Order: sequence, then structure tokens, then C-alpha cells
Amino acid sequence: MAEVVIVENEAAAGALVADTIVSLIRSKPDVVLGLATGSTPLASYRALARRIADDSIDVRGVRGFALDEYVGLPAGHPESYRAVITREVVEPLGLTPELVRVPNGDPATIEHAGADYEVALTAAGGVDLQILGIGRTGHIGFNEPGSSLASHTRVKTLTEATRADNARFFDSPDDVPMHCITQGIGTILRARHLVLLAFGEVKAHAVAAAVEGAVSANQPGSAIQLHPHTTVIVDEAAASQLEHLDYYRHAWANKPAWQGI
Ligand code: PGA
Repeated sequence: MAEVVIVENEAAAGALVADTIVSLIRSKPDVVLGLATGSTPLASYRALARRIADDSIDVRGVRGFALDEYVGLPAGHPESYRAVITREVVEPLGLTPELVRVPNGDPATIEHAGADYEVALTAAGGVDLQILGIGRTGHIGFNEPGSSLASHTRVKTLTEATRADNARFFDSPDDVPMHCITQGIGTILRARHLVLLAFGEVKAHAVAAAVEGAVSANQPGSAIQLHPHTTVIVDEAAASQLEHLDYYRHAWANKPAWQGI
């Protein structure tokens, strides 16, 4: 089963994620990070940026692959995930921009953009640590309910629930694109370590379904159960519908220090 770590708040989750990524960079300076957008990972990126600055960690070789991108936003649109990843990750961490890839949502090349991304991921040797958020629909990446558990990077139609959730970033709900290009669930499962973060009551159902529910395309997050190394880091509110909370706390409290997450 996935390891579930219950933390006090997003800052505590961020510290844990930052520690883990710093160790990875130290052991593999050209580590491949799988990057998520959305509000959830922001505290982790901030904590990581602080650690990199405080400890003078050389990140020039660190590589990154974003999970997903909107289709059809003009190049340079501030809410394109290319722009978000540049603003929230590449610049604050000081990564080398050319080493950080985002799926290409340009309609002119969209027919082969998914296959191109898969080739680039494979050529990079795959993702070492994949950061994941989870949508209240249960999506990971933009794999909405019904997505094949074996899927590869491809174009998907967003659900209206996801478009509504993301409307806060746009001037009008109608401006939220209808389509996206996203790593598939099969793509995500090839990463060597999955770290799924979720905070707040609004995520409690999706977290319980992902961690303890049936493995089903109806709950894309449940695919994490198929992965041998998944860490789920949640606050109390997001953990509130988990059945085996006592066990997760017990296992974490008694975890050998050398193991990390
Ligand atoms: P959020 O989105 O981090 O903004 O809540 C998560 C997701 O939709 O995967």
C-alpha cells in the first residue's frame, strides 16, 4: 500500500518534500523531477528553493518534466503551464530552463505532441520523483475519471468540474481551455517514486478513494496502488476520510530513520 504521512500543514509537507529532493540531487545531480502545477505543490517548491539557496546546492544539471499543459493558449499566456512552471519552479529554484520540459499544447503540432513527449521522457531515462496533486474529481495530471490506467501522454477533454476549479486563474470561466495534453496514468506509473500531496477537506474523498478504494479508471488517483513506491502526504483535513488512519500514524512514528520516504 502507499505510505501515508499525515502532517500538520502544507509547510511541514514542503519541508519533507524538500529534504527528499535535496538528497536525490546530492546523489544524482542530473535527477529527473516530475513537476505538478496547481496550488498544492507550491509550499514544496518554496521550501525547496530556500534549501537550495541556504545550502548552495548545485541544481544546474537537474532536469524536469511537467505533467500537463492546456491546449491552445497563446504562447506566453501567464496561465499556460509552461509559464507557471517557469514562474513557480524554474526561476525560484534556479534550474536550467532548457532542461525543463512541458508538453506542447500548440494546436499546430498537437497530433504528435503526446508521442514526442513520451520519446523525450524515455530518452531522459524516466522520472526519478514525481510530485502529484489530486483533483477533487480524483484526477492525477489531467487524467479525468474514465482515463485508461495504461494511458500515455495524449490530448484529453477537461471535465466541467475541473474547468470550474481552474476558473480562478482566468478572467472568465469561459477562458479556461476545453482541452489539455497530459501524461497518461501509465506514464505517471513509470516514475520511480510518486509523491502525492493533498490538503484540505475538499480533497478528503479523492484521497480516501485513491489510497483505500478499488483500483479503477473511475478514480484515476487509485492507480497509485499499482506503484511499488508511493508516498501520500496529507494534512488532517485531507486525511479525514481514511479508514486506516491509526495504522498510518503508527507506521510513520515507528519508521526507521534511514528509510526516508
Ligand atoms: P490544486 O489542483 O493543487 O490546485 O488543488 C490539483 C489538481 O487538480 O491536480
